[in-house]
Amino acid sequence: MNATPGTQQARPATRIDGPDKVTGRARYAFEHRVSGAAYVWPIQSTIAKGQILNVDASAALALPGVLAVLTPDNAPRLAGDDPELALFQSRAVAYRGQLIAAVVAATLETARAAAGLVRVGYEQAGHDVTLTPDHPGLYKPDHVNPNFATDTEAGDPDGALAAAPVCIDRTYRTPGEHNNPMEPHATIASWDGGELTLYDSDQGPSMAARVIAGVFGLHPDQVRVIAEHVGGGFGAKGGPRPNAVIAAMAAKAVGRPVKCALTRQHMFAVVGHRAPSIQRVRLGAGRDGRLTAIAHDVIGQTSTIKEFAEQTAVATRHMYAAPNRRTTHRLARLDVPTPAWMRAPGECPGMFALESAMDELAIACGIDPVELRIRNEPDAEPETGKPFSSRNLVACLREGAAWFGWDGRDPAPGTRRDGPWLTGTGVAASTYPARAMASQARASVDESGRYQVAIAAVDIGTGARTALLAVAAEALGVPAGQVTVHIGDSALPQAFIAGGSMGNASWSWAVTAACQALREQIRARDGAIPPGGLSAQSATGDAVRALPDHARYSFGAQFAEVRVDADTGEVRVPRLLGVFAAGRIVVPAMARSQFIGGMTMGLSMALHEESTIDPRFGDYPNHDLASYHIAANADVGDIDARWIDEDEPEPGPARAKGIGEVGIVGTAAAIANAVYHATGIRVRELPIRLDKLLR
Ligand code: MOS
Repeated sequence: MNATPGTQQARPATRIDGPDKVTGRARYAFEHRVSGAAYVWPIQSTIAKGQILNVDASAALALPGVLAVLTPDNAPRLAGDDPELALFQSRAVAYRGQLIAAVVAATLETARAAAGLVRVGYEQAGHDVTLTPDHPGLYKPDHVNPNFATDTEAGDPDGALAAAPVCIDRTYRTPGEHNNPMEPHATIASWDGGELTLYDSDQGPSMAARVIAGVFGLHPDQVRVIAEHVGGGFGAKGGPRPNAVIAAMAAKAVGRPVKCALTRQHMFAVVGHRAPSIQRVRLGAGRDGRLTAIAHDVIGQTSTIKEFAEQTAVATRHMYAAPNRRTTHRLARLDVPTPAWMRAPGECPGMFALESAMDELAIACGIDPVELRIRNEPDAEPETGKPFSSRNLVACLREGAAWFGWDGRDPAPGTRRDGPWLTGTGVAASTYPARAMASQARASVDESGRYQVAIAAVDIGTGARTALLAVAAEALGVPAGQVTVHIGDSALPQAFIAGGSMGNASWSWAVTAACQALREQIRARDGAIPPGGLSAQSATGDAVRALPDHARYSFGAQFAEVRVDADTGEVRVPRLLGVFAAGRIVVPAMARSQFIGGMTMGLSMALHEESTIDPRFGDYPNHDLASYHIAANADVGDIDARWIDEDEPEPGPARAKGIGEVGIVGTAAAIANAVYHATGIRVRELPIRLDKLLR
């Protein structure tokens, strides 16, 4: 009971739910035991655009064990404002793979077999799924996600570019990419009168309950969402997905609990993706490498039913000093599934382009790429003039260069050879916003001195449960062993989602406030806890709104060493080092794992990930992990993440900036820059497949 707040002894060093996970005690959404459950299997459209003329379910309904077939003819009317959740509400088909019907049956196998017997008649219309730089439908959205200006301009970028002694003008492309969390999306739904309970795999039980209540016209208190363990999300589970709606709808139709698990193949149409981008970056600079102008013009895509405007050029607004600047975003509405969040949406594809262009500028100026970035470090946020709450990009670059062994690097491309391998190194900067959102938490203690902390946070594999325990124990000033943390349930005090790298900062703030309030109560009673125990609840809304109007970001420097087989174009990455400044690191083991996870996803983006769309069918043929390639152990040797001690005074008592996304940002550019250094070939269109490296 005498542990000093902040001492290492108060903190758990490893995942507290590790034993539950490795022994199988931890239950993911689909694994919860509910008696009498039926199963639902979704049916997807086989055309990319048109109308459903008729749905013939007679053969499916004749199969023993089939309980119902939900179609646009018989589905209950839904409310809510997300067209992707308005299942079976219309006969219009907006993309191939759209959910158009579902079979409910006593077993999963029966539901699946019966789904194959449902006959759907269509009137097919012509579709357009191909993004081009001159697409006739390009338009300017009102804003880009989540609520940024679509375009920004300062000074005279065109004039400055025309006058610049050194000018880089390049177009970079990133392909469509699909989030593939290990646990596919799944829901179990059960109704008790007008009350709905969902076991759901999502990134935020409070938000999921609120959205699903809206869809079914319920009060949020009538929906309970339990997400005890979640096997990854990366944005694909940022809000509830069609699996939750379909399970709830089916459960209502058959009067039994219903289980819905999407397959990996379903996910490629149903849970969002990172939209492809076409990005023109122009950099004007003096011969000393000092930027005079930056222009970043982005073309992206959305669906025809919902606008999702990825904020691809937004990072460019705060990275480097330059008096003349412009960023723009244009979108085409295509007959594709609606894009959605995928780890560092905006920053990740945008920084591939900007950080590749910075490498090209360094070469054009004959300046070391680490030094070039340091030379363009701004004093305040370039487009707003706001002070940075803390900004340690330069420290990340300097310390990273020292750790990586960057000094003395010969800049000449395509000159180092080790047997069949051409070798090279590359660097790129990383950044991600550091924000916190209003959340609530409760802390209580019983007479025996056992503490309970409750918040509707969720652990999607990040170690959030462990981090919150560390934060709670520290704020309470007791050993972690005396504290139990309850998360993963919308019945707990309402919390923000595990998204936007805001989970820990938002939840820690609320947990700290509740624990401090409880501690005050205990102190006021001279430590005597009454028979009924004590409890305190805190909400951070006012404190979040009272934060000073500063520019808050994490920063990082990514270093890569690559080997490229001169004959086959095969790329290997023997070393990746990320050095980050992300405020206070709460639990080092988990932070390291998050950073490395992000970097691994960036490696995957650099070398493999590409959702190719077939223009004839309007669909992604590589919609499984056999043909949608992701990085594997053989791609990389030593992958290491480090951080510098950053004393961030804001935001909130945890002083943590969030680490979920900064790790992916810049990794692909560092690898592409290293590939150029190794081979002399600049790949401006991801992924860096071997065919692009064969002359
Ligand atoms: Mo993250 S893409 O904000 O879940």
